[in-house]
Amino acid sequence: MERHVSQILVTGGAGFIGSNFVLHWLSQNKGRIINLDLLTYAGNLGNLASIEGHAGHVFVRGDICDRTLVDRILSEHRPSAIVHFAAETHVDRSILGPEAFLRTNIQGTFHLLEAARAYLETLPAEERSSFRFLHVSTDEVYGTLGPDDPAFHEDTPFAPNSPYAASKAASDHLVRAWAHTYNLPVLITNCSNNYGPLQFPEKLLPLMIGNALAGKPLPVYGDGRQVRDWLFVVDHCRAIETVLEKGVIGETYNVGGGNQQANIDVVHTLCDLLDELVPDSPQKPHRQLIRFVQDRPGHDRRYAIDPRKLERELGWRPQETFATGLRKTVQWYLANRAWMNEVTSGAYQNWVHMNYGQRGEHKNESASAGAR
Ligand code: NAD
Ligand code: DAU
Repeated sequence: MERHVSQILVTGGAGFIGSNFVLHWLSQNKGRIINLDLLTYAGNLGNLASIEGHAGHVFVRGDICDRTLVDRILSEHRPSAIVHFAAETHVDRSILGPEAFLRTNIQGTFHLLEAARAYLETLPAEERSSFRFLHVSTDEVYGTLGPDDPAFHEDTPFAPNSPYAASKAASDHLVRAWAHTYNLPVLITNCSNNYGPLQFPEKLLPLMIGNALAGKPLPVYGDGRQVRDWLFVVDHCRAIETVLEKGVIGETYNVGGGNQQANIDVVHTLCDLLDELVPDSPQKPHRQLIRFVQDRPGHDRRYAIDPRKLERELGWRPQETFATGLRKTVQWYLANRAWMNEVTSGAYQNWVHMNYGQRGEHKNESASAGAR
């Protein structure tokens, strides 16, 4: 049965998926959102410019680790759900500096769970029974797959390989334990790689789009044959909405688009699309910008999600194919060059120097043949 959710607390709603979720939710008049976000390097109020002044959106700049603040928000606004996106999310950053990941992803989730537990006790029985804590997580908690392994399903054992993945796995375990021990009414989603508008250009697709438009090298890690399972961000937002409204308390739902692709194939498709959409580009053919660089340490080889539980039990289906979603994404970045310029100024350049400065270029004969 579908639940009506009137007012929700969203954490991390100025980041990539969080801001897409806020925009999606408000576009359907689903109810009011209290948006708690620290505005780290990855958070950007510009992502929410189109809803500036919207009565259904209350933005609070703050830290999920600040228990006093979270308590105050909960008692003041009395949300019927918490949708928890806030996290440190970039694997390369977690390799160069893991501490922030442990703080936000593990301690931050702990503080939110504790705040939710205390808040729940203040609610009358009816409100208590309709409250939900939805924890947004990742397929990376399951580790890596061989070429012929079946896709990750909800019972696949956790085997996280990067500091990021380990911190998310820890947060998933905390959520599970708070449900089991304290009866906190939780829902967990584990999703595959998202792409789409408003993604910070440290992640593969927006980084490649930004570099290609600027005529900079397109740095493909290792042999480029690592496989990811791509999902258009709005389809992820729809999945979260579906789980919030129809999910069974205590259950985990895997979310994925059925779009497994090797990184080099994704970059080739992107380059060809840019050739088509920017026909007068001096960088054409964009494939000439591809460079194979030193691999990411501990790089997971393959992720793939089995989303059949979510499809079968809650009726969710992705609406975009990779072709339609990628076209929409590239068109958005082409139409929003000011957004890209804004987020890549300043500190972003330090990150590019730190992550890519030492990688160098290497020849990958089999893969570079395809790049030509
Ligand atoms: P993002 O890095 O784009 O955004 C994270 C947001 O959290 C930012 O707005 C940031 O300011 C905020 N934040 C960080 N630390 C905070 C703190 N201590 N207190 C309050 N706010 C804080 O991340 P994203 O890609 O939008 O991912 C959102 C969630 O979805 C994460 O939990 C991530 O693990 C999960 N996820 C992401 C993907 C993906 O492909 N991007 C896939 C599956 C799951
Ligand atoms: O699978 C879900 C996860 O997807 C999320 O939980 C993470 O928050 C999100 O960052 C993403 O993790 P990945 O490490 O898969 O995403 P990223 O965009 O960093 O890299 C995608 C693939 O592309 C990966 O195999 C590494 C490769 N890559 C990435 C960058 C940034 C390159 O080859 N070159 C690059 O410059």
